[in-house]
Amino acid sequence: MAIAWMTTIISSTIIIMLFSSATTAQTNNDNGGKPKRTHFIVEACKNASINSSEYRHVTKEFCVSALQQDKRSDEAKDLHDLALVGVDILKGHIIAASGKVKEMMHSAKNGTSTAQRLRLCEMDYDAAVTILKVCNPMLKDYRGPKGGEKVGPPSFYLPDCVDKASGFVSYCEHELVDMPGQEALYKESIELGKLGDLNVALMQPYWDFTQN
Ligand SMILES: *[C@@H]1O[C@H](CO)[C@@H](O)[C@H](O)[C@H]1NC(C)=O
Ligand SMILES: *[C@@H]1O[C@H](CO)[C@@H](O)[C@H](O)[C@H]1NC(C)=O
Ligand SMILES: *[C@@H]1O[C@H](CO)[C@@H](O)[C@H](O)[C@H]1NC(C)=O
Repeated sequence: MAIAWMTTIISSTIIIMLFSSATTAQTNNDNGGKPKRTHFIVEACKNASINSSEYRHVTKEFCVSALQQDKRSDEAKDLHDLALVGVDILKGHIIAASGKVKEMMHSAKNGTSTAQRLRLCEMDYDAAVTILKVCNPMLKDYRGPKGGEKVGPPSFYLPDCVDKASGFVSYCEHELVDMPGQEALYKESIELGKLGDLNVALMQPYWDFTQN
C-alpha cells in the first residue's frame, strides 16, 4: 500500500514536472516566437507603406494597428495569410457601416436627396462586401505564380479584386460628402477608404508577375 502511494506521489510529481516543463517550453516558445511574428507584420506594413499611393498614404503604424485588430495577424506566416486577414477585417467593418446606413435610411424622408444618397451608399457598401466575398476564396485558392492558372487564380487577380471593392467604398464617400446630418457616416466612409487602401497597398507585390 505504502509503495503504491509512493508510486502515485512520484508519478504525480513526474507528471507535474513534465507539465510545468512543457508549460515553460510553451512560454519560452511564445516569447521567442511572438516578437518574430510581430516583426513580420511590421515588415509587411513597412512594405505596404512604401508601396501605398500618395493620395491617402498608408502609414506603417496605421497598417500595423489595423491588422492587429484580428489576432490571426500574429499567426500569419506570409503575405498571403496577412492579406486574408486584411480582407476579412475590411469586410467586417463595411458590413457594420452598411448596417448604420440602413438604419439612417429608416429616418430619412422618402424621395429626398438624403434618402437617395444613403440608398446609393448602401448599394456601394453592399457591392464592396459582395466583391470581398469573391476575393476571400480567390486568396484561399491562390497557389502562387508557379501554380499557374490551371490550379489557382493568377497573382494580379488578388490586388485587382480588393481594388474593386475599395473603389465602391470610395463611391459611398462621394455620396456622403457635405451632407448635413451625415457627418458620422461620412467620417466612417473615409476610415473605410483608408482600410481599403491599406489592403490594396499590402497586396502590391502580387502585381509583380515574376514573384510570389
Ligand atoms: C518586403 O519587401 C522586400 C523587397 O521587395 C521583400 O524582399 C520582403 O520579403 C518583403 N517583406 C515582407 C514581409 O513581405
Ligand atoms: C511594391 O510593389 C511592387 C509591385 O508593384 C513589388 O514588386 C515590390 O516588391 C513592392 N515593394 C515592396 C517594398 O513591397
Ligand atoms: C419609403 O417608400 C418605400 C416604398 O417606396 C416604403 O416601403 C417605405 O416604408 C417608405 N419609407 C418611409 C420612411 O416613408
